[in-house]
Amino acid sequence: MQTASEEAYAQMGRSASLLLMSELALDLRHLPKSEAYEQLDAQVTSVLAGTDDEITAMATLSCLVHHAFGHLWTGFYRVVEPDRLLRVGPYQGTLGCLEIAFGKGVCGTAAAERRTVLVPDVERFPGHITCDSRARSEIVVPVFGRDGSLRAVLDVDSERLAAFDETDTEGLERLVSWFRYAP
Ligand code: SME
Repeated sequence: MQTASEEAYAQMGRSASLLLMSELALDLRHLPKSEAYEQLDAQVTSVLAGTDDEITAMATLSCLVHHAFGHLWTGFYRVVEPDRLLRVGPYQGTLGCLEIAFGKGVCGTAAAERRTVLVPDVERFPGHITCDSRARSEIVVPVFGRDGSLRAVLDVDSERLAAFDETDTEGLERLVSWFRYAP
């Protein structure tokens, strides 16, 4: 049997953790990008402490990056057939194309060449795959696992032209290094 004060504390604990959860996906648009990425990095490390689940980490990263910057689309295309095929998810945003072949579009190019691809204007990237016609610029970062193999790519799309730069390259590459070095 709980006393009234024990019950009150239990309630406080519940609402405190709910409050914490609702505050977790922070909007960091008021900060300079480099500071926003520093905060995100610390947040990702703390939120993911204790998990080694890749899908959980991908879902969490998609959510935090998406809401931090108010992007159009943020998410992963996972390698489901090495050197052949990527499949969508987890992600945040509007409907994403389900599968992308290595070498196709921005995601397939980043996967095939295992490098970050920055696209300031998607209309100038031959073969760009349009999932949402509002997308104007894009960045795709390769994600490597503990064994150094390519596990996925992280794709971030914006409604603004030239929304991404070297700070995003560094910030996103650092965030996805979780998959290489996490427990
Ligand atoms: N634009 C990407 C396709 C994925 S979506 O934009 C979500 C590409 O060209 O690979």
